Amino acid sequence: MKYSIEEIQEKLRKKFKGNRFIHTLGVEYTSVCLAMKYGEDLEKAELAGLLHDCAKQLPEKKMIQLCTDHKEVISEMEMEHPFLLHGKAGACLAQDKFEINDEDILNAIRYHTTGRPAMTLLEKIVFVADYIEPNRNKADHLDELRRSAFENLDETVLLILDQTLDYLETSGKDIDQQTVITRDYYRDLLRSSNNE
Ligand SMILES: [Fe+2]
Ligand SMILES: [Fe+2]
Repeated sequence: MKYSIEEIQEKLRKKFKGNRFIHTLGVEYTSVCLAMKYGEDLEKAELAGLLHDCAKQLPEKKMIQLCTDHKEVISEMEMEHPFLLHGKAGACLAQDKFEINDEDILNAIRYHTTGRPAMTLLEKIVFVADYIEPNRNKADHLDELRRSAFENLDETVLLILDQTLDYLETSGKDIDQQTVITRDYYRDLLRSSNNE
C-alpha cells in the first residue's frame, strides 16, 4: 500500500471542507464497527469507509474525465447529474492517487450511493455506514436503523433503500434507476428468505 491510513486521513483532511471530513471519519469508524460485528477484514473496511467520498469535492468535469479514462459505464442520468458519479469517480481516484487495487474496496466505494444487487459484505458495510454514521442527523428512523445495522445487515440495506426512494419520490427529486434495481433485489431476497 502506497500510503498508511493516517497519511490518507491527512490528505483528505486538507482537501475536504467543513463537515465532509467529519462525515468521512464517521463512515470510517462505523465501517470498522460493522466489520467487527460481521467478521470482515478491519483494514479493508477502514480504507473503504475512509475513501468512500474521496472524489466528492472534484469538479463535475473531472469526475466525468476520470470515469471516461477508466472506462466506467456512465448512465444517462449520471451524465445529466454528474454528482451522482462520485462513487465511480472515487473508485478511479482511489486507484490513481492512493494505489488501492483491491477490487472489493473499489466496489464498496463505487456502489456506496446506490448499492447494487448481491453486494459483498464489505459493500453492504460501507453502504450502511454511510447512512448511519453518528454525525448524520437528518434522515428519519436513525435510532432504529443504527440498532438494526448490528442485527440484520440485509434488512438494514433494504430499509435504507426504501427510505431513500420514499424521500426522493416525495421531494420530487430524480431517482437513479440503480437504486430501484438494488431495492427490488433486496426486497425479493428478504421475502424469499422469510418464506423459507
Ligand atoms: Fe457519497
Ligand atoms: Fe458519504
